Amino acid sequence: MQVTPLSSNLGAEIAGIDLEGINDDSFDQVNRLVLDHQLVVFRNQSLSPEGQLRLSRRFGPLDIHPLAQYNHPQYPEIFVLSNEVKDGKPVGIADGGSYWHSDFAFRERPAKVTMLNAQKIPSSGGATLFVSMYQTYDELGQEVKEAVQDRRAVHRYRKKADPGSETTRVVMTAEQLAATPDVDHPIVRTHPETGRKALFAHPGITVKILGMDDESGGALLGRIFDHCTQEKYQYAYQWRPGDVVLWDNRCVMHKATTGVVAVKEPRTIFRTTIMGDKPF
Ligand SMILES: [Fe+2]
Repeated sequence: MQVTPLSSNLGAEIAGIDLEGINDDSFDQVNRLVLDHQLVVFRNQSLSPEGQLRLSRRFGPLDIHPLAQYNHPQYPEIFVLSNEVKDGKPVGIADGGSYWHSDFAFRERPAKVTMLNAQKIPSSGGATLFVSMYQTYDELGQEVKEAVQDRRAVHRYRKKADPGSETTRVVMTAEQLAATPDVDHPIVRTHPETGRKALFAHPGITVKILGMDDESGGALLGRIFDHCTQEKYQYAYQWRPGDVVLWDNRCVMHKATTGVVAVKEPRTIFRTTIMGDKPF
């Protein structure tokens, strides 16, 4: 495998491997690369849905997305991101995740790794933005670092989009709302495999800090968000068909731009989400 860093912040492109028939040794290397680079990208794959599920399950048990209307009709563990419409019905969610978040942070056990398998990609637009939350933690001012140490924050699904961006107009059913109650997690989490500390608070999902009133807690969250969303931390990934992209949600936040960038051509990506541990 050849490894080429994607940016000075995070990410690596890996060449020289076919993910469809990956063996145990190669998987161990890929797993190591995910831990080391936080975001890994494989170009020119032709990974089948079955191959994607097989590879995903090597990381751990899969979680099923609560917006079941967008899950793949044959493979419910595959969540479909798509702007295509077939027989009058959306093939998938058209602009999911157009706000800073970590996948399934609203679960008791948020996502470990997300895998995206690009099916159809437009000629331009629709980049995904990534930020290393190890880096934002490491470079957080001492005063804020001390203020958030041992604090917990509340995460709420579909809180809102970032100001100025368009959020998906998804109406959740009573069942879907009931299945996604508020949860709280430590603001600074320790990665269970690397032992490194990472910030775990995201503008699109994190709503308040436990034990603080709305004003002071909101102000502190605002300082964290302003810090983490600085342009210098962002890496924009430009998609191509055949891309397979994995990232570690325990130390990375991300944001789709399909809600803010007009994507006129078909865009369809298959997502699988590997369940992680309860953050500590
Ligand atoms: Fe996401």
